[in-house]
Amino acid sequence: MPVADAKFFASSDLPAHRRLLEALAGARVAEIVGRVRAISDQRIAIGGLAAHGAIGDVVHLRARDGSEIAAEIVAFDGPDAIALPFGEISALGPGCEARLSPASAVARPDDSWLGCVFDGMGRCLIGGPAVDGSRDYPLRRPPPPAAARGLTTEPVDIGVVAMNAFLTCGLGQRLGIFAGSGVGKTTLLGMLASHARFDAVVIALIGERGKELADFVLRYLSPEQRARAAVFVSTSDEPAVLRRRASFLAVTAAEYFRDTGRRVLFLMDSVTRFAAALREIGVAAAEPTGVGGYPGSVFAQMPRLLERLGPLEGTSGITAFITVLVEGDDMNEPVSDAVRGFLDGHVLLDRRIADGGRYPAIDVVRSVSRAAPQVQVAEHREALRRAIALESAYREVEDLLRLGLYKRGTDQRTDRAIEYHERLESMLQQEVADRSELEEDVRTLRAILDEIRSE
Ligand SMILES: Nc1ncnc2c1ncn2[C@@H]1O[C@H](COP(=O)(O)OP(=O)(O)OP(=O)(O)O)[C@@H](O)[C@H]1O
Ligand SMILES: [Mg+2]
Repeated sequence: MPVADAKFFASSDLPAHRRLLEALAGARVAEIVGRVRAISDQRIAIGGLAAHGAIGDVVHLRARDGSEIAAEIVAFDGPDAIALPFGEISALGPGCEARLSPASAVARPDDSWLGCVFDGMGRCLIGGPAVDGSRDYPLRRPPPPAAARGLTTEPVDIGVVAMNAFLTCGLGQRLGIFAGSGVGKTTLLGMLASHARFDAVVIALIGERGKELADFVLRYLSPEQRARAAVFVSTSDEPAVLRRRASFLAVTAAEYFRDTGRRVLFLMDSVTRFAAALREIGVAAAEPTGVGGYPGSVFAQMPRLLERLGPLEGTSGITAFITVLVEGDDMNEPVSDAVRGFLDGHVLLDRRIADGGRYPAIDVVRSVSRAAPQVQVAEHREALRRAIALESAYREVEDLLRLGLYKRGTDQRTDRAIEYHERLESMLQQEVADRSELEEDVRTLRAILDEIRSE
């Protein structure tokens, strides 16, 4: 049976196909072998696979020194499959053997994956043993059809006061956390990983520094929290194909935990580095570049990953928080701009707020949660309207205050806004280890507003 057909059956849910596939599992499947024809930079052209391989398939290359190197097919160029390597290729040359790896476009997630840290190839680095499950999940599963994405109406307590009170999230919502470098994105994700109430937490650490993995797992998660988390990591020094694969693997695992009845939280740090990996791959595959030096495929592939997250009828969906590095604090650079459009809201971290020492440095006026109106009760919405109006009034005089040009007592409305702002700031200040409660956060906000009103 050709490997391509086996893959078709593997991606099908039909029991008859499954039985057939299982019957074939023991049978010998003919190996598909090609040969390296040319190498330039990281781009490996392989002959003999074009009729069998598909984009995303892994090939195993036998180098001249006998070592084996894995690579992923990223494009086809005439009769050649173009592959990018997962490792060092100095011992590789024309004529080297290339074996197509069957079933490399699928993963088999399992309950045992919780409590483990994986690399981009799905190897368990910490924890385990992580075993394969019984069902194939395609790494590049298409997103669910729009009609199957139920509305987000159930509020979810995420344990961070600024977000609970101002940007109340719904189950299955997808939010971007936007900030320049060093403003607290990773720390905020760490708080969500440990405070938000979910059955399974999938964390994708893509293209960030190696130390962040240790930070995340050791600093933010208690042993109990670790036991309900699956972490996928591919650091910035690793090849682009591996960073992309780790991202797909993480989303695939989140789909499995959702399909097995869990409330799933998905955290990604960062989608900017995922986009950078897509760009590197696109450039290596000789795609023409467009907006901001990004090949067009980057903006086609990003939503294919992000749209797999979010609500899905009949399940609790996948609630997701994704960090976006805003280069030079420019929200309109191409990746930020595109990601903002794909998600259901954005949380902005402001450098000025961080510099003032208030963490998490969430700008509650400029951030938006599109699900908030659906998941908040009427009194909460009313309180927020007043809160935002007061904070906006404060911002109008902020510069004057800083320069000492406004004297308290001059204008009652302004005095109220200043008073309110000071109380709000102390409410929004939250230590990393402290968990807040949704109902309590809403009560506190309303209490502050009531006090200001009665003054
Ligand atoms: N909640 C917090 N409480 C106290 N300090 C914080 C908090 N969040 C961030 N910081 C401070 O800001 C620094 C940078 O935070 P963090 O690494 O989370 O930022 P980042 O946006 O992920 O940075 P990068 O863009 O480099 O990845 C931390 O080392 C810490 O000093
Ligand atoms: Mg970070």
